Amino acid sequence: DLSTVIAGVPLSNVFFNAAGAWCQREDELQALLDSGAGSLITKSATYEAREGNPTPRYAPLADGVISGGGGSISSIGLANEGYKYYLNYARQFDVTRHGKPLFISLSGLSLADSVKMVTAFAQAELSGCILEINFSCPNVPGKPQLGYDMNAMDTTLATLAPLIEKPFGIKLPPYFDMAHFDQVAAVVNKYDNLAFVTCINSVGNGLAIDLDTERAMIKPKNGFGGLGGRMILNTALANVNAFYRRLAPGKQVIGVGGVVSGKEAFLHILAGASAIQIGTQLMEEGPPVFDRVKRELESIMEKKGYNSVEEFRGKVKTL
Ligand code: DHB
Repeated sequence: DLSTVIAGVPLSNVFFNAAGAWCQREDELQALLDSGAGSLITKSATYEAREGNPTPRYAPLADGVISGGGGSISSIGLANEGYKYYLNYARQFDVTRHGKPLFISLSGLSLADSVKMVTAFAQAELSGCILEINFSCPNVPGKPQLGYDMNAMDTTLATLAPLIEKPFGIKLPPYFDMAHFDQVAAVVNKYDNLAFVTCINSVGNGLAIDLDTERAMIKPKNGFGGLGGRMILNTALANVNAFYRRLAPGKQVIGVGGVVSGKEAFLHILAGASAIQIGTQLMEEGPPVFDRVKRELESIMEKKGYNSVEEFRGKVKTL
C-alpha cells in the first residue's frame, strides 16, 4: 500500500512530478493524469505569462555511461502560462473523476503578485486543490530567492497564510548549515495552516561544462543553473530529515531530489517524507517512470516486510 495523505487530502500513492517537470501546459498535465502518479503539480505560475530564458536551458548530465544518469542542470527562467491558465485548469479539474488531487505551484515575482494570486485561488474555493508556494526559484536573473532570507520568508508567510486559509505548503531551497535548518523550521512552525514543506528545490547555480567542446551546457546565465537528479540525493535526504525532525506535530515533508528508482524513494521515506516528487528522472524517462518506481518501491517494501509507508516513515536509524 503506497497511499498517503498530504495536508488532509488522500493520494493513492506517494509519487508525483516535481514542479517544473512535465507540467507547463494541459497536454503535459494530461499525461500525468494518465500516468501512475498519485497526484500532479503545475509549473510555478507568475502573475503574467513568461517565455522564460533562451534555449538550451535544460541539459541532462551523463554519469559517464548513461545520459542523464548524473542528474541535470537547468535555468528555465520561470516560463509559464500565467496564473489564470492554471486557475482555469484547477476550476475544471475533477478530483473524483481523476482520482488524484491537484497541487498548484505559485511563484510570485513580488509580494503584491503573490497576494493577488493566492486571493484568486482562495476565492475559487477549489476542493482537492493544494497550493505549494515557491520560496526558491533561483533562475530569474536579478532576483535573489526568498528561501535564503528568513525575515522575508516570515513576513511573506504572515501576509499569505491568512489569505490562503486552507492547509498549504512551501517549496524550499536546499540548506547546508544546521543553524539555517533551525531558523527556517522556527519560521515554518509559526503558521498553523502551513501544513508541509517540499524539500528540496534544485541545488542553485551549478555550472556544467562539456569537455569536448569546452562549452557550458546551457545558454542562460553564462551556463549557471539549478542542479537536479542523482547528484543531489544526499543533500535532499538531509533536508527532508532535518525538517522532519524539527517541524511541529502534524506538519509534513514532501521529499524531492535524486529519486531515480524505488531505492531512493524508500530512503526519502525513511528520512521522513510523506510524499515524493520526481523531476530530472521524469524529464529523462517521461511519465512511465511512475509505474516503474511504484513497482520498485513495493518490491523493496515486500522484501522488508512493510505493508504501508507509515511503518517506516522517518524511522532512519542513527549510529
Ligand atoms: C525555475 C527553477 C526553479 O528551481 C524554480 O523553483 C522555479 C522556476 C525555472 O528555472 O523556471
